[in-house]
Amino acid sequence: MIDQSDTKVSVRDLSVRFGAVNVLKGLSLDVRKGEFLVLLGSSGCGKSTLLNAIAGLQEHNEGQVWIGGRNVTWAEPSERDLAMVFQSYALYPSMTVRGNLSFGLRMAGAPKEEIARAVEGAAELLQITHLLDRRPHALSGGQRQRVAIGRALVRNSDLFLFDEPLSNLDAKLRAELRVELKTLHQRLGATMIYVTHDQVEALTLADRVAIMKDGIILQLDTPEAVYNRPANRYAASFMGAPPMNLLPGVLKRAGATCRFVGAGLELEIPADCLAGDWRDGQEVELGVRPEHLFLIGPGEADRIGTAAVKLTELHGSEQIIWAVIGDTKVALRASPEVKVALGQDHAFGLHRHRVNLYDKESGLRV
Ligand SMILES: Nc1ncnc2c1ncn2[C@@H]1O[C@H](COP(=O)(O)OP(=O)(O)OP(=O)(O)O)[C@@H](O)[C@H]1O
Ligand SMILES: [Mg+2]
Repeated sequence: MIDQSDTKVSVRDLSVRFGAVNVLKGLSLDVRKGEFLVLLGSSGCGKSTLLNAIAGLQEHNEGQVWIGGRNVTWAEPSERDLAMVFQSYALYPSMTVRGNLSFGLRMAGAPKEEIARAVEGAAELLQITHLLDRRPHALSGGQRQRVAIGRALVRNSDLFLFDEPLSNLDAKLRAELRVELKTLHQRLGATMIYVTHDQVEALTLADRVAIMKDGIILQLDTPEAVYNRPANRYAASFMGAPPMNLLPGVLKRAGATCRFVGAGLELEIPADCLAGDWRDGQEVELGVRPEHLFLIGPGEADRIGTAAVKLTELHGSEQIIWAVIGDTKVALRASPEVKVALGQDHAFGLHRHRVNLYDKESGLRV
């Protein structure tokens, strides 16, 4: 028997097929008690399908789901003791906010005082107390989304599933509610599984991030690890805005050290950047984040190669310099004060200890 004492949700070898299409392919995932786990992946990769399967709303072909040490694979949704906020949440238009929040508890036959207490508590937490007597049509999109989250909160569960709960909001409200959700998680200490395709949400909210692609989890680790050491080329190019630069080249053995030789740049790879075995002549891509590349003056010692600067973009607190190294378009993050002449070649350096290498064939980190 596996020790499950620290695990809240365990998904084991889960497969879901729609006709001939395998949407989840033997996916396994353990979510710890009290953890904020974010499932991150592009549209159609199977995030909602996985969440629905955990909630018992999606039939699956193979595998098991365990919640709180109990095998719930065949349990009804109502027996799984969790609260969910759906991607396409719909409020009851004819009911007030209070009516919407209390609906689930009323159906379950909870005592009046308990319902009132739960509704007041959730409304206070989400700062919608002043809206309790309004109907949904008289609410803004952000307020409606809060009510949808509130409906899950009144369930007073210790497991919450969120399916892109902030997707319909403008950037400012998203950022505000993100902070509120994080505060909420700290206050409740509940386990939360949160689906998004927004990498900023993933990095800011998560204790751990699971990067999903085509029905499997490619990497499951802390936000720091998935950002700094992406396990494969897909994760590297998915995270970051702009994402990690990937420069093609070849590895060369030079004594005991590993050298990367690419078009327009060459450098020694520090041992701490190598994940495992590599071979002389191996074709790879060198991954380097925009903030780890920098332009330098002509005679400076850090020179790695030459970049042709094409364009600069001011982003307020920073600027992105678009350049070409060899044949590859790259982005460099710089302070807005840096002045660069466009259409010219510049020497550049990089932070060697921050690079990653990806095998050209498999895409896996070398
Ligand atoms: N009932 C269904 N029948 C057939 N295919 C389905 C069905 N439901 C989902 N799919 C397909 O399964 C895949 C995964 O869908 P899912 O809704 O889990 O994606 P997602 O990661 O949540 O995407 P999004 O970010 O757009 O919400 C998609 O390609 C989708 O078209
Ligand atoms: Mg979805």
